[in-house]
Amino acid sequence: MTENKVTQWYNEHVELEDKCLISGNLQYEITLHYIREAIASLQRPEDPAKGLHIADIGCGTGVYAIPLAQDGHRVSISDISSASANFAVQKAQAANLHFVTSSAFDARSLRSHSEIYKPNHYSLVLLPGPLYHILDEDERCDVLLSALEIVKPGGYVLAAFVTRNAHLRDIAVRDPGRLAREWGFYERYLRDGRYTRGGKAPMYHASLKEIRALVATARRKGQDKGIGSELGKLVSCEGFLGFQHASHLVELDEDAFARWREVVLGSAADEATLGAADHILAVIRRTS
Ligand SMILES: C[S@@+](CC[C@H](N)C(=O)[O-])C[C@H]1O[C@@H](n2cnc3c(N)ncnc32)[C@H](O)[C@@H]1O
Repeated sequence: MTENKVTQWYNEHVELEDKCLISGNLQYEITLHYIREAIASLQRPEDPAKGLHIADIGCGTGVYAIPLAQDGHRVSISDISSASANFAVQKAQAANLHFVTSSAFDARSLRSHSEIYKPNHYSLVLLPGPLYHILDEDERCDVLLSALEIVKPGGYVLAAFVTRNAHLRDIAVRDPGRLAREWGFYERYLRDGRYTRGGKAPMYHASLKEIRALVATARRKGQDKGIGSELGKLVSCEGFLGFQHASHLVELDEDAFARWREVVLGSAADEATLGAADHILAVIRRTS
């Protein structure tokens, strides 16, 4: 039921989702910055042009996969929504690019998809979306662990989360009376982060504490399989601005936007900034 609603939502809103992360969007630019930072740390200085093999799980319409393929990397994509994955493939083809593999499946069954599930194989695995929608904590942990299984020692898993603060800020702006009016709902929501009502896909909104606990649990479970990992950093994808303020930057020209981007990046990984995030990116390194 839950997964059907997620698949259905993304199959029916491909173009809307594609426009969500247009260039100039701070969340997008900051995420791409940290993806490229991880890549740069993996490339040898004498051979920076050598392409890496990257898996993008929950690729959506290819907003990260396409620029990474353009940068010369080999990218394998998958998404629970076949319409999104197909859209990504078509956009890539229109730009004369191709993905190594493209498939449509639920990230929870990654281990059953041998076209992309290749243990110790990728330099970088992206999870930019599935964890927004997996409501069960054990399942979130297993998806993260399966991503760690396919990254090479030394490589990275970058996993994105939406925060509870994001939703609370949103209702504070749009409908501040709602928290008290619907306290029966919000009391539970504040405990477990499950936003499962309304017409959209059911969502899990994380807290910082839960993100840290999830990474720590995946690390412990990984150790039992000989997989060492460590949390490199957590990054606030909207920096200290938060989503509402960050959204004004979309109107700026390239130079003016770049100035903001640089200033926001200056503290995006600071502990004090994480609470302002609507989206948090966990940069996890596989150590052995
Ligand atoms: C908010 S969109 C983000 C898309 C894209 N990665 C981006 O950052 O713009 C979330 C994506 O995760 C995908 N997704 C959600 N649950 C998933 C799951 N269990 N397995 C695989 N993909 C999933 C959705 O279909 C959607 O494309």
